[in-house]
Amino acid sequence: MKNQELAFTSNEGDNWFIRNKSKIKENSAEISLLCNWLMPYQNQIDTILEIGSGPGNKLAQICWQLNAMGWGVEPSKKAVDFANKNYNKNCKFTLATADNLSFINITFDLVHFGFCLYLVSRNKLNTVIEQADKLVKPGKFLSIIDFDPRTSFENDYIHFEGLKSYKTNYYKMFCDLGNYSLINKFSFSEKSFCFSKKEDDRICLSLLYKEN
Ligand SMILES: C[S@@+](CC[C@H](N)C(=O)[O-])C[C@H]1O[C@@H](n2cnc3c(N)ncnc32)[C@H](O)[C@@H]1O
Repeated sequence: MKNQELAFTSNEGDNWFIRNKSKIKENSAEISLLCNWLMPYQNQIDTILEIGSGPGNKLAQICWQLNAMGWGVEPSKKAVDFANKNYNKNCKFTLATADNLSFINITFDLVHFGFCLYLVSRNKLNTVIEQADKLVKPGKFLSIIDFDPRTSFENDYIHFEGLKSYKTNYYKMFCDLGNYSLINKFSFSEKSFCFSKKEDDRICLSLLYKEN
């Protein structure tokens, strides 16, 4: 089994960015939905952390829609450079992986994982969840966009031999910590903005509240 974090830090993060650069959108429907859910609490959301922020467009959209400041962490240098160049009005971006965030010494009103947890090494997942939990202020929010299978399974990650895509219900792992409540969930797929009957295609956006 390959170290997924090392692979993304050394070249697969940059390769993901290069493959997806032409598809970067300033406005995506799932991020708008997340912001609509959070709109009643907009005046309580000033600081947002995205873990695995890629090119930064999603964090920039959340910050723009909620009028907040953002910090993105991401292992790809190319993506971080792009994000710092293009979305620096109210966001900043730093090189890091999700298992290594102890350098962040502030807490946030919203922590967002956008398609990142499925790439985390299984032996690092508990650390990642514990660290993310510490970065969410009590009484504030955590959101996740990731695969939404009925049962957990793994696929080969097609772009890099030896890496895996781990599909499981990540929001449940936070709820299992005991201090999070699921307050919204929307199921969709890459192909259409509605629930997919095909298990392998299922994605969901989930919004959790960290109890005070
Ligand atoms: C599918 S992309 C999603 C990018 C962006 N969050 C979005 O929603 O469009 C996954 C991103 O997570 C990054 N990534 C992979 N492993 C990571 C890890 N262990 N910690 C943080 N980010 C990671 C990749 O480099 C890539 O930019």
